[in-house]
Amino acid sequence: MTENHFGANIAPVYDETHAERFDPAVLDPTIDFLDALVGAGPALEFGIGTGRVALPLAARGHEVDGIELSPEMLEELKNKPGGVDLEVVTGDFATATTGRTYALVFLVFNTINNLLTQDQQVACFQNAADHLDPGGCFVLEVGVPNLRRLPPRENSVAFAAEPHHIGVDRFTDIANQRFESHHHYVTTDGALHHVAPFRYVWLSELDLMARLAGLEPVGRWEDWVRSLFTGDSEHHVSVWSKPGS
Ligand SMILES: C[S@@+](CC[C@H](N)C(=O)[O-])C[C@H]1O[C@@H](n2cnc3c(N)ncnc32)[C@H](O)[C@@H]1O
Repeated sequence: MTENHFGANIAPVYDETHAERFDPAVLDPTIDFLDALVGAGPALEFGIGTGRVALPLAARGHEVDGIELSPEMLEELKNKPGGVDLEVVTGDFATATTGRTYALVFLVFNTINNLLTQDQQVACFQNAADHLDPGGCFVLEVGVPNLRRLPPRENSVAFAAEPHHIGVDRFTDIANQRFESHHHYVTTDGALHHVAPFRYVWLSELDLMARLAGLEPVGRWEDWVRSLFTGDSEHHVSVWSKPGS
């Protein structure tokens, strides 16, 4: 049973605590990238959340559907202009279906890591493939596992140290590729500690999951402006397509 880690504590302040992700300098390249891939066809976002990406993509004239586990995040989405116009299925994106196919399925902002087992991540790729039209693309944005930053015998890596946000990844179970992200935020409502479990995933695993789902590699870049992906890249945007016209 997949647990909801984006409940009533974080959903109402998600946009505030992730304000840097809404900055046009960060978000516009994401929308440009997806806009260029979707063509005239509809798109589906796995883990649509409060609509950070889906709403601006829809504002460019695309039909965008979603699958989302958290009713609290969906409540925030529905309260935004255009939010009620998006078709969203409440469920687990590893298994839930919207009952139709798309030119584009996308899963951004490390959200594949919310699936805590390899089997669930494999199922997610299959579910993405099942939702694609022939020739359609699956786009994934996720961090490269940052184990190389761990000092010997330590299990934690700080990834944010701002006045309003301290973030630490704690590697809890290397054998099962499990870690926890601890966020300490200062919001307009006060202090908030948000912790969620994740499973990190290697590039080679992702490519194999895509192959198992019948998808073919299109490209991998460091970011949304297609910077070269190298051995030092800390995150990637990867694209696979479903064979066909
Ligand atoms: C980090 S947020 C990203 C939200 C949005 N995509 C964005 O970029 O701002 C992850 C979202 O995925 C949802 N989520 C996590 N695991 C899920 C699952 N197995 N099925 C459906 N939604 C899931 C969470 O509830 C949350 O809304």
